[in-house]
Parts: sequence; structure tokens; C-alpha cells
Amino acid sequence: MTPSLKPPTPLWDRARRPLLETQALETSRLWLSSGAWGLLMLGGVGRGKSLAAAWLWHRLRDEALAVASRPAGTHADSGRPIYRRAGDTLWLRAREVQRLEWAARSEVLGRCATAAGLVLDEMGAEDERVSAAIGDVLEQRGDARLRTVMTSNLGGGAFLKRYGDRLTSRLRAGGVTPEGGAQWAVLVQGEDMRGKDVEPTSEEPRENEDRKATPDFMAKILSEEAPEVAAMLGALVRRTSEAP
Ligand SMILES: Nc1ncnc2c1ncn2[C@@H]1O[C@H](COP(=O)(O)OP(=O)(O)O)[C@@H](O)[C@H]1O
Ligand SMILES: [Mg+2]
Repeated sequence: MTPSLKPPTPLWDRARRPLLETQALETSRLWLSSGAWGLLMLGGVGRGKSLAAAWLWHRLRDEALAVASRPAGTHADSGRPIYRRAGDTLWLRAREVQRLEWAARSEVLGRCATAAGLVLDEMGAEDERVSAAIGDVLEQRGDARLRTVMTSNLGGGAFLKRYGDRLTSRLRAGGVTPEGGAQWAVLVQGEDMRGKDVEPTSEEPRENEDRKATPDFMAKILSEEAPEVAAMLGALVRRTSEAP
């Protein structure tokens, strides 16, 4: 059976209700307005990465539908408006790929490579052989600058070992930190929120769609909260580019 390629129902539903302003969510909002193709959220379980990714999935899908609802032109003869088909917005858990038969696997990976938007959740929980195929998908998406949200519970070092420089060099195309690392590779910290889900009260910060990515904010995340990852991504890219 092929996977649904939609967020799991609990995440789908929860992401539509008011959310606490977690680091994952704040980062997601900034990335959305940045226009960069790829966002990578690393960090331990329960930090709200998947929920923030589900929030982004709704936003990316809404954007795709909005584009399709506006006429892209008019028929020369009839004068009737021409509409484009909405691009797909897909969701894939990395581990779902490995139980698919060859034909289904290549169909799913092919769709994921070209969809307008993709969330790739829990990267690194799959077999290493599958990681290579997922790496190919990400390479294509990065080159085509298709919006892609990646989450992983792996640490920065393990993630880099698995997905390596193919991905980091492409992530850097979306922005670079002063240290030379990828701006949108973020280590999400904070407490483990599993079992502690709460709705924000009215005093807590409201969603503000107008926030723009400010270099100050990202610099803060990367220097105070994710120095290892920033340094590692930067170091890896430097090492690769220095290689003969
Ligand atoms: N922004 C948020 N507001 C309220 N609850 C949240 C938020 N982010 C996460 N949670 C709660 O914490 C749980 C774990 O979040 P999840 O996104 O699955 O973490 P991760 O993917 O980092 O392991 C979620 O099921 C949800 O109940
Ligand atoms: Mg998760």
C-alpha cells in the first residue's frame, strides 16, 4: 500500500489549533517568509519539530491552492480564464519508504522529488540504503529550489554523516551564517513537550504573519543555541570546498 503522503491525522488537526510559540514554530515562520527552499530542523524528540512542520505543511498547501485559484491568463479565442493546477504539497516519513515495493517506492520518491512543497519527517529513522534514495530526492529539490521542510531526531554529526555535503551545500544556497554554516539548518532546543501539550492562553504571543526573518534572530539561534551544528555545517562545507 502506498503511503497517503499527508500529515498524520493528529498532527494535521493539532497544527490547525492555536499553538505555543516554540522555537520550532518561530523558526518555521521566519523560514516561510524568507523564501529559502529548504529548512532543516534537528533536535531531540518532543521539541515540536513535527508539529511545526505540520503547521508549515498547511501554509505551503494554502499557498499552492491560492496560486491555482488565480487565473494564469485567458484563452485567446473564448476569453475565458485559464487556471493552473495546484502543485502537490506532500508529507513523507522517511521510514515509510523502506517498506514499499520497488515500483511503489520509485513512484513515491518521484512524486516527492517534484512536488511544489514537501515535508520529510524523521529523517535518519530509515535504513541507510533508503537514506541514499532520499538524498537523491533532496538533491533534485534543492537544485529546483522547491520548498522543503526536513526534520530529524539525529544529532548534527550523525545527520551529516548520513546525508553529507550534497545536502549541506544546497542548504547553504538558502542563506549562510557569519560562521559559514547553513542559515536554515537549526538545532531546535527547549524541553521535551511530549504529554505536556497545552493551548496558549490569550496573554501568550499571538501569531503574527508579518514577521520577517531578521539576521539578528537567526544569528541568535545559531550562536547561542546551536553553535555545534552551525560550526559543523560550516566546517563540513569548508572542508569539501577545500578538497582538491
Ligand atoms: N507549538 C506547540 N504548541 C503546543 N504543543 C506543542 C507544540 N509543539 C509541540 N507540542 C506538543 O509536543 C508534542 C511533541 O511535539 P512533536 O512535534 O511531535 O516533537 P518532535 O517532532 O520534535 O519530536 C506534540 O504532540 C504536541 O502535543
Ligand atoms: Mg517528530
